[in-house]
Amino acid sequence: MSRTGARVERQPLARYTTLGVGGESEVWFVETHEQLAEAMEAPYRILGGGSNLVVSDMGVPERVIRLSGPLAERDLTPDPALSTPDLIVTGWVGGGAPLPGLLRALQKLGWSGLEGTVGIPGQVGGSVWMNAGTRFGEMFDGLHTIEIVTPDGVRQITPDDLDWGYRQSGIPRNHIVTRVRLKLRPSTPEAVLEKMDQADQARKGQPKNKTPGCAFKNPGGVSAGKLIDEAGLKGTQVGNARIAPEHGNFIVNLGGATAADVHALLDLIRERVGVPLELEYELWPEHLGG
Ligand code: EPU
Repeated sequence: MSRTGARVERQPLARYTTLGVGGESEVWFVETHEQLAEAMEAPYRILGGGSNLVVSDMGVPERVIRLSGPLAERDLTPDPALSTPDLIVTGWVGGGAPLPGLLRALQKLGWSGLEGTVGIPGQVGGSVWMNAGTRFGEMFDGLHTIEIVTPDGVRQITPDDLDWGYRQSGIPRNHIVTRVRLKLRPSTPEAVLEKMDQADQARKGQPKNKTPGCAFKNPGGVSAGKLIDEAGLKGTQVGNARIAPEHGNFIVNLGGATAADVHALLDLIRERVGVPLELEYELWPEHLGG
């Protein structure tokens, strides 16, 4: 336990990443702003749902912060002061809340706005931080207020305060999205479900193995997967990691893959695809090389 009562444990990060790769690190499970402030007293990183993340086989030397307890809960009660008949502004949704569960709850309520993010396995905070999305929509479609904790304290901002865009929020790396208020439109459970199904349909051809999601951003709106496919790289394997035969922009863990295997595939893709590709994954640490 830390001074303020946060649970602190050394754990393999492979347990927390959708790729199933990552060495042992010191994980801080923080439940309050006070515990978060303590965790931020030394170098730290923030772990969301562990999708879109490739962690070194050696782990990382920094504290790894995971939002838990109340910071992973959601209050979807409409705020009467901010809501109108055409717009629902919710209570606070914790950065540690899983996105899939949130979407199921919104669908049942018949509230529209975030359907395009269906199928993303992340947590709310991380999904906001990278503006996760699909062709059908993104996190910033449904955000009213964002609470961020910076090394200087807590701030509440709106999307207009940020320079956000495709797969980026403009929120600096060391700032933590602790809670958000959502902005949604009243619809029906059936209509929301239909939109979610449509977005889900586009994922049908994606691999089912352990994967961080798409490796590279789409350069200038062109599918990076298509470019990797055209370079003849689908199915290429290094160690126990493979470029998915189903979709070129996915690297999958066949079981027992290492971060070094994944980095080797990323290098190969960059070398073979004739267009500069920007990585969508977060790398821990940031330099290439396992
Ligand atoms: N295509 C190929 N070969 C491939 C992959 C794709 O020919 O190996 C073709 C497809 O046949 C299709 C076109 O490229 O004609 C576009 O493919 P897809 O519909 O899969 O879309 P994408 O642009 O490759 C984007 C997002 C995905 C999201 C899908 C569906 C990015 C980098 N990718 O992929 O998001 O799931 O649309 O909405 O923006 C992610 O961000 O992690 C992610 C997986």
